[in-house]
Amino acid sequence: MKKSLLLTSVVALGLSATAVKAEPQAEVLHWWTSGGEAAAVKVLMEEFGANGGTWTDMPVAGGGGDAAMTALRARVLAGNAPTAVQLKGPSIQEWYEEGALGNINDVATAEGWDELLPSAITYHLKCDGEYCAAPVNIHRIDWIWGNSKVLSDAGIEPPTNWDEFNAAADKLKEMGITPLAHGGQAWQDATVFEAVVTGLGGPEFYRKALVELDMETLKSDKMKEVFDQMRRIRGYVDDNFSGRDWNLATAMVINGEAAFQIMGDWAKGEFIAAGKVPGKDFTCTSPSGGAYLYNVDSFAFFNVEGDDKQAGQKLLAKLTMGQNFQKVFNLNKGSIPARLDVSMDEFEFCGRQSNADLNTAIDQGFLLPSYAHGMALRGAQAGAITDVVTAHFNSDMSSEEAVEALARAVANSL
Ligand code: BGC
Repeated sequence: MKKSLLLTSVVALGLSATAVKAEPQAEVLHWWTSGGEAAAVKVLMEEFGANGGTWTDMPVAGGGGDAAMTALRARVLAGNAPTAVQLKGPSIQEWYEEGALGNINDVATAEGWDELLPSAITYHLKCDGEYCAAPVNIHRIDWIWGNSKVLSDAGIEPPTNWDEFNAAADKLKEMGITPLAHGGQAWQDATVFEAVVTGLGGPEFYRKALVELDMETLKSDKMKEVFDQMRRIRGYVDDNFSGRDWNLATAMVINGEAAFQIMGDWAKGEFIAAGKVPGKDFTCTSPSGGAYLYNVDSFAFFNVEGDDKQAGQKLLAKLTMGQNFQKVFNLNKGSIPARLDVSMDEFEFCGRQSNADLNTAIDQGFLLPSYAHGMALRGAQAGAITDVVTAHFNSDMSSEEAVEALARAVANSL
Protein backbone atom coordinates (compact mmCIF):
# COMPACT_ATOMS: atom_id res chain seq x y z
CA MET A 1 0.00 0.00 0.00
CA LYS A 2 2.71 2.37 1.09
CA LYS A 3 4.78 1.30 -1.89
CA SER A 4 2.02 1.97 -4.37
CA LEU A 5 1.37 5.39 -2.81
CA LEU A 6 5.04 6.15 -3.19
CA LEU A 7 4.97 4.97 -6.77
CA THR A 8 1.93 7.13 -7.51
CA SER A 9 3.60 10.22 -6.11
CA VAL A 10 6.81 9.51 -8.00
CA VAL A 11 4.83 9.16 -11.21
CA ALA A 12 2.88 12.34 -10.37
CA LEU A 13 6.10 14.21 -9.65
CA GLY A 14 7.59 12.95 -12.88
CA LEU A 15 4.58 14.14 -14.82
CA SER A 16 4.55 17.59 -13.31
CA ALA A 17 8.29 17.89 -13.89
CA THR A 18 7.62 17.23 -17.59
CA ALA A 19 4.78 19.77 -17.56
CA VAL A 20 7.01 22.42 -16.00
CA LYS A 21 9.65 21.71 -18.62
CA ALA A 22 7.24 22.14 -21.56
CA GLU A 23 8.81 24.67 -23.87
CA PRO A 24 6.33 27.39 -24.80
CA GLN A 25 5.20 27.18 -28.42
CA ALA A 26 2.95 29.64 -30.19
CA GLU A 27 1.62 29.70 -33.71
CA VAL A 28 0.32 33.22 -34.12
CA LEU A 29 -2.15 34.22 -36.82
CA HIS A 30 -2.25 37.94 -37.56
CA TRP A 31 -2.51 40.41 -40.45
CA TRP A 32 0.33 42.75 -39.52
CA THR A 33 2.31 42.73 -42.74
CA SER A 34 2.98 46.38 -43.67
CA GLY A 35 6.30 48.05 -42.72
CA GLY A 36 5.05 49.63 -39.47
CA GLU A 37 2.95 46.59 -38.53
CA ALA A 38 5.79 44.12 -39.10
CA ALA A 39 8.17 46.26 -37.01
CA ALA A 40 5.60 46.22 -34.21
CA VAL A 41 4.92 42.48 -34.13
CA LYS A 42 8.66 41.76 -34.28
CA VAL A 43 8.90 43.21 -30.76
CA LEU A 44 6.64 40.47 -29.43
CA MET A 45 8.38 37.72 -31.40
CA GLU A 46 11.70 38.77 -29.90
CA GLU A 47 10.37 38.96 -26.35
CA PHE A 48 8.74 35.56 -26.75
CA GLY A 49 12.02 34.06 -27.95
CA ALA A 50 14.02 35.74 -25.20
CA ASN A 51 11.71 34.07 -22.67
CA GLY A 52 12.32 30.59 -24.02
CA GLY A 53 9.39 30.41 -26.44
CA THR A 54 9.29 29.27 -30.07
CA TRP A 55 7.16 31.48 -32.28
CA THR A 56 5.70 30.19 -35.53
CA ASP A 57 4.51 33.15 -37.53
CA MET A 58 1.31 32.93 -39.57
CA PRO A 59 0.84 36.32 -41.22
CA VAL A 60 -2.08 36.63 -43.63
CA ALA A 61 -1.78 39.83 -45.67
CA GLY A 62 -4.86 41.96 -46.20
CA GLY A 63 -5.72 45.21 -44.43
CA GLY A 64 -8.60 45.09 -41.98
CA GLY A 65 -8.14 41.32 -41.56
CA ASP A 66 -10.80 39.84 -43.87
CA ALA A 67 -8.36 37.36 -45.43
CA ALA A 68 -6.97 36.45 -41.99
CA MET A 69 -10.46 35.64 -40.74
CA THR A 70 -11.09 33.36 -43.73
CA ALA A 71 -7.83 31.55 -42.98
CA LEU A 72 -8.83 31.21 -39.32
CA ARG A 73 -12.20 29.64 -40.17
CA ALA A 74 -10.47 27.06 -42.39
CA ARG A 75 -8.02 26.14 -39.62
CA VAL A 76 -10.70 25.80 -36.95
CA LEU A 77 -12.92 23.72 -39.27
CA ALA A 78 -9.95 21.43 -39.91
CA GLY A 79 -9.64 20.94 -36.13
CA ASN A 80 -6.24 22.61 -36.07
CA ALA A 81 -6.65 26.07 -34.54
CA PRO A 82 -3.61 28.35 -34.16
CA THR A 83 -2.52 28.97 -30.56
CA ALA A 84 -3.19 32.71 -30.69
CA VAL A 85 -5.10 34.87 -33.13
CA GLN A 86 -5.39 38.61 -33.69
CA LEU A 87 -9.08 39.08 -32.98
CA LYS A 88 -11.33 41.78 -31.60
CA GLY A 89 -14.71 42.93 -30.41
CA PRO A 90 -17.81 40.77 -30.77
CA SER A 91 -16.00 38.20 -32.93
CA ILE A 92 -14.21 37.11 -29.73
CA GLN A 93 -17.63 36.31 -28.27
CA GLU A 94 -18.73 34.63 -31.49
CA TRP A 95 -15.77 32.23 -31.35
CA TYR A 96 -16.37 31.65 -27.65
CA GLU A 97 -19.97 30.69 -28.36
CA GLU A 98 -18.67 28.18 -30.92
CA GLY A 99 -16.73 26.58 -28.06
CA ALA A 100 -13.41 27.38 -29.77
CA LEU A 101 -11.74 29.64 -27.19
CA GLY A 102 -9.57 28.80 -24.21
CA ASN A 103 -9.24 30.78 -21.02
CA ILE A 104 -6.33 32.84 -19.70
CA ASN A 105 -8.00 34.10 -16.56
CA ASP A 106 -5.29 32.69 -14.28
CA VAL A 107 -2.66 34.91 -15.98
CA ALA A 108 -5.00 37.91 -15.95
CA THR A 109 -5.76 37.47 -12.25
CA ALA A 110 -2.11 36.94 -11.29
CA GLU A 111 -1.10 40.07 -13.25
CA GLY A 112 -4.03 42.20 -12.04
CA TRP A 113 -5.44 43.10 -15.48
CA ASP A 114 -8.71 44.46 -14.08
CA GLU A 115 -6.75 47.27 -12.39
CA LEU A 116 -4.43 47.87 -15.35
CA LEU A 117 -7.01 48.29 -18.12
CA PRO A 118 -9.69 50.94 -18.73
CA SER A 119 -13.03 49.42 -17.69
CA ALA A 120 -14.47 50.64 -21.02
CA ILE A 121 -12.47 47.97 -22.86
CA THR A 122 -12.23 44.98 -20.50
CA TYR A 123 -15.65 43.64 -21.46
CA HIS A 124 -14.43 43.08 -25.03
CA LEU A 125 -11.77 40.73 -23.64
CA LYS A 126 -13.91 38.59 -21.38
CA CYS A 127 -16.00 35.53 -22.11
CA ASP A 128 -18.64 34.84 -19.45
CA GLY A 129 -16.80 37.17 -17.08
CA GLU A 130 -13.33 35.60 -17.52
CA TYR A 131 -10.47 36.77 -19.72
CA CYS A 132 -10.19 34.90 -23.02
CA ALA A 133 -8.15 37.56 -24.88
CA ALA A 134 -5.21 39.88 -24.13
CA PRO A 135 -5.19 43.44 -25.52
CA VAL A 136 -2.17 44.90 -27.29
CA ASN A 137 -3.28 48.47 -27.94
CA ILE A 138 -5.91 51.12 -28.49
CA HIS A 139 -6.14 52.36 -32.08
CA ARG A 140 -8.01 55.51 -33.01
CA ILE A 141 -9.84 55.34 -36.34
CA ASP A 142 -11.15 58.86 -37.00
CA TRP A 143 -7.97 60.62 -38.09
CA ILE A 144 -7.13 62.79 -41.07
CA TRP A 145 -3.41 62.52 -41.90
CA GLY A 146 -1.87 65.32 -43.93
CA ASN A 147 1.45 66.02 -45.64
CA SER A 148 2.67 69.19 -43.84
CA LYS A 149 4.62 70.57 -46.81
CA VAL A 150 1.82 70.04 -49.33
CA LEU A 151 -0.59 71.77 -46.95
CA SER A 152 1.64 74.71 -46.06
CA ASP A 153 2.60 75.27 -49.73
CA ALA A 154 -1.12 75.44 -50.49
CA GLY A 155 -1.80 77.72 -47.50
CA ILE A 156 -4.08 75.17 -45.84
CA GLU A 157 -4.53 74.47 -42.12
CA PRO A 158 -5.11 70.80 -41.17
CA PRO A 159 -8.91 70.31 -41.13
CA THR A 160 -10.80 69.68 -37.88
CA ASN A 161 -14.28 69.14 -39.31
CA TRP A 162 -15.85 68.09 -42.63
CA ASP A 163 -16.54 71.67 -43.81
CA GLU A 164 -12.88 72.53 -43.39
CA PHE A 165 -11.91 69.29 -45.09
CA ASN A 166 -14.16 70.06 -48.07
CA ALA A 167 -12.82 73.61 -48.39
CA ALA A 168 -9.22 72.35 -48.26
CA ALA A 169 -9.89 69.55 -50.73
CA ASP A 170 -11.65 71.89 -53.20
CA LYS A 171 -8.69 74.24 -53.09
CA LEU A 172 -6.16 71.42 -53.61
CA LYS A 173 -8.16 70.01 -56.50
CA GLU A 174 -8.19 73.41 -58.20
CA MET A 175 -4.42 73.51 -57.77
CA GLY A 176 -4.12 70.11 -59.50
CA ILE A 177 -3.16 68.22 -56.33
CA THR A 178 -4.90 64.95 -55.41
CA PRO A 179 -6.69 65.85 -52.17
CA LEU A 180 -7.25 62.34 -50.81
CA ALA A 181 -5.22 59.13 -50.99
CA HIS A 182 -7.71 56.30 -50.71
CA GLY A 183 -7.67 52.60 -51.37
CA GLY A 184 -10.86 51.33 -52.92
CA GLN A 185 -11.39 48.29 -50.72
CA ALA A 186 -14.67 47.81 -48.88
CA TRP A 187 -13.14 48.08 -45.40
CA GLN A 188 -11.39 51.34 -46.33
CA ASP A 189 -14.68 52.82 -47.58
CA ALA A 190 -16.23 51.74 -44.26
CA THR A 191 -13.39 53.41 -42.33
CA VAL A 192 -14.10 56.75 -44.03
CA PHE A 193 -17.87 56.29 -43.64
CA GLU A 194 -17.79 55.82 -39.87
CA ALA A 195 -15.61 58.91 -39.47
CA VAL A 196 -18.18 60.89 -41.49
CA VAL A 197 -21.07 59.48 -39.43
CA THR A 198 -19.28 60.57 -36.23
CA GLY A 199 -18.24 64.03 -37.40
CA LEU A 200 -21.49 65.02 -39.12
CA GLY A 201 -23.92 63.32 -36.75
CA GLY A 202 -22.11 63.46 -33.39
CA PRO A 203 -21.60 60.64 -30.89
CA GLU A 204 -25.26 59.96 -30.11
CA PHE A 205 -26.13 59.70 -33.79
CA TYR A 206 -23.21 57.30 -34.31
CA ARG A 207 -24.28 55.15 -31.39
CA LYS A 208 -27.90 54.95 -32.53
CA ALA A 209 -26.97 54.25 -36.14
CA LEU A 210 -23.97 51.94 -35.93
CA VAL A 211 -24.14 50.38 -32.48
CA GLU A 212 -27.87 50.12 -31.79
CA LEU A 213 -28.90 49.84 -35.47
CA ASP A 214 -31.91 52.09 -34.88
CA MET A 215 -34.00 52.08 -38.08
CA GLU A 216 -35.21 55.69 -37.83
CA THR A 217 -31.62 56.87 -37.49
CA LEU A 218 -30.43 54.72 -40.38
CA LYS A 219 -33.11 56.23 -42.63
CA SER A 220 -32.81 59.80 -41.31
CA ASP A 221 -32.05 62.98 -43.23
CA LYS A 222 -28.77 63.15 -41.33
CA MET A 223 -27.80 59.79 -42.82
CA LYS A 224 -28.57 61.21 -46.27
CA GLU A 225 -26.14 64.04 -45.49
CA VAL A 226 -23.56 61.41 -44.58
CA PHE A 227 -23.95 59.78 -48.00
CA ASP A 228 -23.82 63.23 -49.66
CA GLN A 229 -20.46 63.75 -47.95
CA MET A 230 -19.29 60.29 -49.08
CA ARG A 231 -20.16 61.24 -52.66
CA ARG A 232 -18.20 64.45 -52.26
CA ILE A 233 -15.21 62.52 -50.89
CA ARG A 234 -15.39 60.19 -53.93
CA GLY A 235 -14.68 63.28 -56.03
CA TYR A 236 -11.43 63.94 -54.14
CA VAL A 237 -9.67 60.63 -54.89
CA ASP A 238 -7.49 59.88 -57.92
CA ASP A 239 -8.57 57.60 -60.79
CA ASN A 240 -6.39 54.67 -59.73
CA PHE A 241 -7.79 54.21 -56.24
CA SER A 242 -9.64 50.97 -56.87
CA GLY A 243 -8.20 48.00 -54.92
CA ARG A 244 -5.21 49.99 -53.64
CA ASP A 245 -3.84 48.76 -50.29
CA TRP A 246 -4.10 51.20 -47.39
CA ASN A 247 -0.33 51.43 -46.89
CA LEU A 248 0.17 52.38 -50.55
CA ALA A 249 -2.33 55.17 -49.99
CA THR A 250 -0.31 56.24 -46.93
CA ALA A 251 2.83 56.22 -49.09
CA MET A 252 1.14 58.71 -51.45
CA VAL A 253 0.79 61.16 -48.55
CA ILE A 254 4.32 60.44 -47.32
CA ASN A 255 5.69 61.20 -50.82
CA GLY A 256 3.52 64.25 -51.35
CA GLU A 257 1.53 62.69 -54.22
CA ALA A 258 -1.66 63.38 -52.25
CA ALA A 259 -2.47 65.72 -49.38
CA PHE A 260 -4.62 63.62 -47.02
CA GLN A 261 -5.56 60.12 -45.95
CA ILE A 262 -8.49 59.24 -43.68
CA MET A 263 -7.34 56.15 -41.81
CA GLY A 264 -6.77 54.63 -38.37
CA ASP A 265 -3.46 55.34 -36.69
CA TRP A 266 -1.76 52.22 -38.05
CA ALA A 267 -1.10 54.73 -40.89
CA LYS A 268 1.10 56.64 -38.44
CA GLY A 269 3.20 53.47 -38.10
CA GLU A 270 3.97 53.80 -41.84
CA PHE A 271 4.98 57.47 -41.55
CA ILE A 272 7.22 56.58 -38.62
CA ALA A 273 8.75 53.57 -40.42
CA ALA A 274 9.57 56.00 -43.27
CA GLY A 275 11.43 58.25 -40.80
CA LYS A 276 8.80 61.01 -40.78
CA VAL A 277 8.22 63.08 -37.64
CA PRO A 278 4.63 63.39 -36.36
CA GLY A 279 3.43 66.99 -36.05
CA LYS A 280 6.35 68.18 -38.18
CA ASP A 281 6.42 66.23 -41.46
CA PHE A 282 2.82 65.18 -41.22
CA THR A 283 -0.31 66.39 -39.46
CA CYS A 284 -2.89 64.44 -37.47
CA THR A 285 -6.30 65.95 -36.84
CA SER A 286 -9.69 64.46 -36.11
CA PRO A 287 -12.98 65.62 -37.64
CA SER A 288 -15.02 64.21 -34.74
CA GLY A 289 -15.54 67.18 -32.42
CA GLY A 290 -14.40 65.41 -29.23
CA ALA A 291 -15.69 61.92 -30.04
CA TYR A 292 -13.19 59.06 -30.41
CA LEU A 293 -13.67 55.94 -32.50
CA TYR A 294 -11.62 53.14 -31.03
CA ASN A 295 -10.44 49.70 -31.95
CA VAL A 296 -8.57 47.35 -29.60
CA ASP A 297 -6.37 44.69 -31.19
CA SER A 298 -6.03 41.64 -29.01
CA PHE A 299 -4.87 38.07 -29.06
CA ALA A 300 -7.55 35.47 -28.45
CA PHE A 301 -6.42 32.05 -27.31
CA PHE A 302 -7.96 29.02 -28.98
CA ASN A 303 -8.42 25.55 -27.46
CA VAL A 304 -5.24 23.66 -28.21
CA GLU A 305 -3.82 20.33 -27.09
CA GLY A 306 -0.36 19.98 -25.58
CA ASP A 307 1.48 21.41 -22.60
CA ASP A 308 3.91 23.28 -24.85
CA LYS A 309 1.14 25.15 -26.66
CA GLN A 310 -0.74 25.90 -23.47
CA ALA A 311 2.48 27.16 -21.89
CA GLY A 312 2.92 29.29 -25.02
CA GLN A 313 -0.52 30.83 -24.54
CA LYS A 314 0.22 31.77 -20.95
CA LEU A 315 3.60 33.26 -21.82
CA LEU A 316 2.14 35.19 -24.74
CA ALA A 317 -0.71 36.54 -22.61
CA LYS A 318 1.73 37.67 -19.93
CA LEU A 319 4.16 39.34 -22.36
CA THR A 320 1.37 41.01 -24.35
CA MET A 321 0.27 42.88 -21.27
CA GLY A 322 3.85 43.58 -20.15
CA GLN A 323 4.75 47.25 -19.65
CA ASN A 324 7.73 47.19 -22.01
CA PHE A 325 5.87 45.43 -24.80
CA GLN A 326 2.90 47.81 -24.53
CA LYS A 327 5.26 50.74 -24.94
CA VAL A 328 7.57 49.51 -27.70
CA PHE A 329 4.93 47.73 -29.77
CA ASN A 330 2.71 50.81 -29.81
CA LEU A 331 5.55 53.21 -30.62
CA ASN A 332 5.91 51.22 -33.85
CA LYS A 333 2.27 50.40 -34.46
CA GLY A 334 0.90 53.96 -34.23
CA SER A 335 -1.57 53.07 -31.49
CA ILE A 336 -1.38 53.79 -27.74
CA PRO A 337 -1.01 51.28 -24.89
CA ALA A 338 -4.11 49.56 -23.55
CA ARG A 339 -2.43 49.48 -20.11
CA LEU A 340 -3.16 52.63 -18.15
CA ASP A 341 0.16 52.77 -16.30
CA VAL A 342 2.48 53.11 -19.32
CA SER A 343 3.93 56.61 -19.43
CA MET A 344 3.12 58.62 -22.57
CA ASP A 345 6.36 60.65 -22.16
CA GLU A 346 8.19 58.72 -24.88
CA PHE A 347 5.29 58.96 -27.30
CA GLU A 348 5.26 61.56 -30.06
CA PHE A 349 2.86 64.40 -30.74
CA CYS A 350 0.01 62.40 -32.34
CA GLY A 351 0.24 59.58 -29.78
CA ARG A 352 -0.02 62.03 -26.89
CA GLN A 353 -2.93 63.73 -28.67
CA SER A 354 -4.68 60.38 -29.01
CA ASN A 355 -4.20 59.63 -25.33
CA ALA A 356 -5.48 63.06 -24.24
CA ASP A 357 -8.51 62.81 -26.56
CA LEU A 358 -9.24 59.30 -25.32
CA ASN A 359 -9.40 60.49 -21.71
CA THR A 360 -11.63 63.43 -22.62
CA ALA A 361 -13.91 61.15 -24.64
CA ILE A 362 -14.17 58.71 -21.72
CA ASP A 363 -15.11 61.58 -19.36
CA GLN A 364 -17.74 62.90 -21.75
CA GLY A 365 -19.17 59.52 -22.71
CA PHE A 366 -17.98 60.06 -26.30
CA LEU A 367 -15.89 56.90 -26.62
CA LEU A 368 -17.31 54.95 -29.58
CA PRO A 369 -16.53 51.38 -30.72
CA SER A 370 -15.56 51.22 -34.40
CA TYR A 371 -18.07 49.35 -36.55
CA ALA A 372 -15.66 49.23 -39.52
CA HIS A 373 -12.97 47.52 -37.43
CA GLY A 374 -15.13 44.95 -35.76
CA MET A 375 -15.71 46.50 -32.34
CA ALA A 376 -19.38 47.45 -32.45
CA LEU A 377 -21.32 44.80 -34.32
CA ARG A 378 -21.30 41.13 -35.14
CA GLY A 379 -19.97 40.09 -38.52
CA ALA A 380 -23.32 39.77 -40.33
CA GLN A 381 -24.54 43.26 -39.41
CA ALA A 382 -21.21 44.97 -40.02
CA GLY A 383 -20.93 43.21 -43.39
CA ALA A 384 -24.45 44.29 -44.41
CA ILE A 385 -23.61 47.94 -43.73
CA THR A 386 -20.25 47.82 -45.48
CA ASP A 387 -21.83 46.27 -48.60
CA VAL A 388 -24.13 49.29 -48.95
CA VAL A 389 -21.41 51.83 -48.17
CA THR A 390 -19.09 50.40 -50.79
CA ALA A 391 -21.85 49.93 -53.39
CA HIS A 392 -22.78 53.60 -52.97
CA PHE A 393 -19.17 54.82 -53.09
CA ASN A 394 -18.48 52.92 -56.30
CA SER A 395 -21.62 53.80 -58.26
CA ASP A 396 -23.90 56.74 -58.88
CA MET A 397 -26.44 55.57 -56.29
CA SER A 398 -28.25 58.57 -54.76
CA SER A 399 -28.17 59.29 -51.03
CA GLU A 400 -31.92 58.56 -50.85
CA GLU A 401 -31.39 55.14 -52.41
CA ALA A 402 -28.44 54.51 -50.12
CA VAL A 403 -30.37 55.08 -46.88
CA GLU A 404 -33.18 52.83 -48.10
CA ALA A 405 -30.66 50.14 -49.02
CA LEU A 406 -28.92 50.58 -45.67
CA ALA A 407 -32.09 50.11 -43.63
CA ARG A 408 -33.12 47.11 -45.74
CA ALA A 409 -29.70 45.43 -45.51
CA VAL A 410 -29.54 45.88 -41.74
CA ALA A 411 -33.10 44.59 -41.25
CA ASN A 412 -32.29 41.48 -43.32
CA SER A 413 -29.13 40.82 -41.32
CA LEU A 414 -30.81 40.77 -37.90
C1 BGC B 1 -6.30 46.49 -37.22
C2 BGC B 1 -4.93 47.07 -37.23
C3 BGC B 1 -4.33 46.94 -38.61
C4 BGC B 1 -5.27 47.53 -39.64
C5 BGC B 1 -4.78 47.44 -41.07
C6 BGC B 1 -7.15 47.08 -38.33
O1 BGC B 1 -8.41 46.45 -38.35
O2 BGC B 1 -6.93 46.73 -36.00
O3 BGC B 1 -4.11 46.45 -36.28
O4 BGC B 1 -3.09 47.58 -38.63
O5 BGC B 1 -6.53 46.87 -39.58
O6 BGC B 1 -4.61 46.13 -41.45
